[in-house]
Amino acid sequence: MPYPAVRHRRLRLTESLRVLCRETSLSPAQFILPYFAVPGKNRKVPIVSMPGVFQLSIDNLVKALDKTAALGIRSILLFGVTEKKAANACGAYEKEGIVQQALRAVKKSHPHLTVIADTCLCEYTLDGHCGIRKNGIVDNDASLPLIVRTAVSQADAGADGVAPSCMFDGMVSAIREGLDKAGHQNKFILAYSAKYASAFYGPFREAAGSGHFKDHRRDHQMDYANAREGVKEALSDVEEGADMIMVKPALAYLDIISRIRAAIDVPVAAYNVSGEYSLIVCGAKAGLVDRTAAMMETLYSIKRAGADIIITYFAEEAAEWLKNQGQ
Ligand code: PBG
Repeated sequence: MPYPAVRHRRLRLTESLRVLCRETSLSPAQFILPYFAVPGKNRKVPIVSMPGVFQLSIDNLVKALDKTAALGIRSILLFGVTEKKAANACGAYEKEGIVQQALRAVKKSHPHLTVIADTCLCEYTLDGHCGIRKNGIVDNDASLPLIVRTAVSQADAGADGVAPSCMFDGMVSAIREGLDKAGHQNKFILAYSAKYASAFYGPFREAAGSGHFKDHRRDHQMDYANAREGVKEALSDVEEGADMIMVKPALAYLDIISRIRAAIDVPVAAYNVSGEYSLIVCGAKAGLVDRTAAMMETLYSIKRAGADIIITYFAEEAAEWLKNQGQ
């Protein structure tokens, strides 16, 4: 039936009608908040490139989690930041590594929180690469054992799940095998499956202390012109045993989220990355956009595209917004 019998605007006339007809909803339970742990005590180091985000010493991290949990956010993604760099990236997998210490403290103070450890070497290598380099390129097969070692040490320290972010071939099956051998059959793998070589990671490099990294990662992260390849990566990670998969970044890749959502059955997470965060925050500071409105619009768009889970630095702010809306 055409206009005038059909009037699409009827259902947009009041807020309660708009809410009634919403196709997509957000829940803080499906947000994951990234945290950056640093050595020391009582430290809260502002990350200049990400206003409002801090590197926290473990004592402060544990305190911050009270608010996170009170807002209904039940999962975090943990990164370690350290000055200690080494050719063999030992800081990534030693028992007293910063992430391992933080995991033990957090699981003790907040046992019900789902704690996921980012599994990568880039915060720990001399050159800031995600693996060990041979003949000028990151050597896939030589790096895998160190990634596995990192994942196992994180599981040993209490991580509920590990999130390999290095985009190495075979990383998921290697980690699964390593975890199982170490008795960690119940620890899950959230694979950064479709991770694109993106300009939007810029601010993260300061956050994670990999700012000394000057090279590009286009030899292992994906070309942003490719969509089919993203689906292929996700399918192969699921086949290797990934329990959840991730698309990263989120906003310039909503089509990839949709395609992957349609192609696989495991939960799909999208990483609303540092550049996406900082552009909104700084754009709002410059008076160009309304911070809250832009934040919520982008989070809804990521969910609408098909993400089940959103990893975002906005998690607490968005949870507060949802609470204020009575949602
Ligand atoms: C690598 C890693 C990166 C991010 C998460 N894990 C950076 C990169 O691949 O260069 C980016 C996250 C963000 O930008 O918020 N371990």
